[in-house]
Amino acid sequence: MKCDIKNKNIILGVSGGIAAYKSVELLRLFKKSETNVRVIMTQNAKWFVGQLTFEALSENPVSDSLFLKEGNDASIKHIQWAQEADAVVIAPATANIIGKIAGGIADDALSTFILAVTAPILICPSMNTNMYESKAVQRNLKTLKKDGFTIIDPSEGELACGTTGPGRMPEPEEILDRLLWRLSPKDLQNKKILVTAGPTQEHLDPVRFISNPSSGKMGYAIAKAAEYRGADVTLVSGPSQLLDPVNVNTIRVKSAEEMGSAVFEQFETVDIVIKAAAVSDYRADEQAKQKIKKDAIEKAVSLKKNIDILKELGKKKKDQILVGFAAETESLEKNAGKKLKDKNLDMIVGNIVGGPTSGFAADTNVATLFYKDGKKESLNEMSKEALAHTILDRIIKGV
Ligand code: PMT
Repeated sequence: MKCDIKNKNIILGVSGGIAAYKSVELLRLFKKSETNVRVIMTQNAKWFVGQLTFEALSENPVSDSLFLKEGNDASIKHIQWAQEADAVVIAPATANIIGKIAGGIADDALSTFILAVTAPILICPSMNTNMYESKAVQRNLKTLKKDGFTIIDPSEGELACGTTGPGRMPEPEEILDRLLWRLSPKDLQNKKILVTAGPTQEHLDPVRFISNPSSGKMGYAIAKAAEYRGADVTLVSGPSQLLDPVNVNTIRVKSAEEMGSAVFEQFETVDIVIKAAAVSDYRADEQAKQKIKKDAIEKAVSLKKNIDILKELGKKKKDQILVGFAAETESLEKNAGKKLKDKNLDMIVGNIVGGPTSGFAADTNVATLFYKDGKKESLNEMSKEALAHTILDRIIKGV
């Protein structure tokens, strides 16, 4: 089941660090997901970003004080908002707020609110590298982890103070990604899943290759969804512009041969394989060492068949669940059904490729699921993320 934050109550806690400007972008990302966001900021956060900015973008009053102000019912918000929260994200979290939460101190709106929250809380530490690595901050973070808080490790890079090292607040997209992970049911815990994604490239010579328009979006969406749901995920990816998904063991390969080696190496140890990669069926009989002259190409190039990785897995299969994809331009049912049988699969996801809303490179897909007992399930157009979760739902149900 796809987890999203639509209509959820998210509290964004902002403490006084230079990365507070990034929490404005984070707030915008939450709002794009149609989330109800409320902001609680510390007094020091106001040195970096104005309260009005958060008020305008969240379309909610900002809480900054425990005490009643003119026209403001601040005094009860820390209890009411805590009761209503589905999740809390503190970004940036300074050494000060981390220390206060670890020590149970409640001396301002944010720290008092945190004590009253029972929903998941994500903490995004952001500070100078030496401060971050100091014994006190590390000790406090350890305490928070033990107490059930989710710590999103800072990234490394050049910091505003001029030093380089860990301490940068992760990008808003990564924080949203970890929030979705935290809120997802962990119904694939203790499962090892192998996913393939993207195209393969089969070089004819150093400058030319056979490939296809696969972007990797479908396979990466599956890998991410499985990781959200608690699986131990390995992603074998052909060339793709997409970033390695967080907490997924991503192995980058180029050719079908390399993809095959990586997949076969993992196969014995996994419970589920989902092959969304678009593997080239052919490669050059012999790859030329030098660039083939334009006029010589027709004579120089001959092709030979690549190994069918999925078919090999179908032969080796013991108790693993094997899911393939069928990319077709016509006769989906007939062609997908044949592949399901020939490759000894438990399920095949048939999709028509070539259109703008389905198949290669699109953000959405229109798929039909074919099962080994002959049943089929036609799905409406949906995002590749939603399809990824639907495929996992069916696998969990026993295919
Ligand atoms: O990456 P995107 O841009 O998001 O696009 C997604 C997609 C269209 C690539 C994806 O949805 C999809 O359909 N992937 C399968 C593409 C494909 O190669 O289909 P096929 O019908 O040729 O192959 C059938 C199955 O056998 C596939 O699971 C494929 O991974 C596997 N195969 C094929 C050939 C081969 N030599 N080895 C294989 O393992």
